[in-house]
Amino acid sequence: MCDPVDAASRVGIVRALYERKVLQTEENTMTKTKSAGDLPARTKEMIQFRDSGIHGMGGFALRKIRKGTALIEYVGEKITKAEAALRIAADNPFVFILDDETDLDGNVDWNPARFLNHSCEPNAVAEIFDDQIWIMAQRTIQPGEEITFNYSYDLENYEEHLCLCGAAKCVGYMVAEEFFPQVRASAPQAARV
Ligand SMILES: C[S@@+](CC[C@H](N)C(=O)[O-])C[C@H]1O[C@@H](n2cnc3c(N)ncnc32)[C@H](O)[C@@H]1O
Ligand SMILES: [Zn+2]
Repeated sequence: MCDPVDAASRVGIVRALYERKVLQTEENTMTKTKSAGDLPARTKEMIQFRDSGIHGMGGFALRKIRKGTALIEYVGEKITKAEAALRIAADNPFVFILDDETDLDGNVDWNPARFLNHSCEPNAVAEIFDDQIWIMAQRTIQPGEEITFNYSYDLENYEEHLCLCGAAKCVGYMVAEEFFPQVRASAPQAARV
């Protein structure tokens, strides 16, 4: 069951997004863009995509960003769970769970959010609002900080997903925070404390 505080803050965030026209405006409707070069102006102001010390490319804050800011929408192709299973089995790391029936494959060039890396101590979080996945700042983010979120992977084959986030509390593997105690307990020699 939904925590009432979480539910209330979620409603507040959605209302704020609509008031700030983040969810409504054409410039933020990433699904209508054709390439990463078409980034909405406010995303361009906030995030630069470049090489990351964690892995490959990453997104970095260009300015101070306030907690609760909608940073970027994670867009892509809506697919069935069966299709998603095939793509995940083919090593596609960009598939995102949308709801009980649908997943989103973010492996498209108009989805720069696909470059955001995972961290065990992230400064952002992925939230689903009415079928849209938004990466939201979960604390104040300073200029130059890499923008990360927890990918919320489950424990299936977690040993194959080593985490290199470098956070002081890095658990050593890319798993959802709820699994940190279990991972630390089951592989204390590998998982960091
Ligand atoms: C959605 S991509 C993120 C963008 C990636 N940096 C790139 O350039 O394609 C997800 C992949 O990035 C890598 N990755 C992301 N966060 C990581 C982390 N904390 N530690 C190690 N690898 C990470 C993993 O290979 C993961 O499958
Ligand atoms: Zn980590």
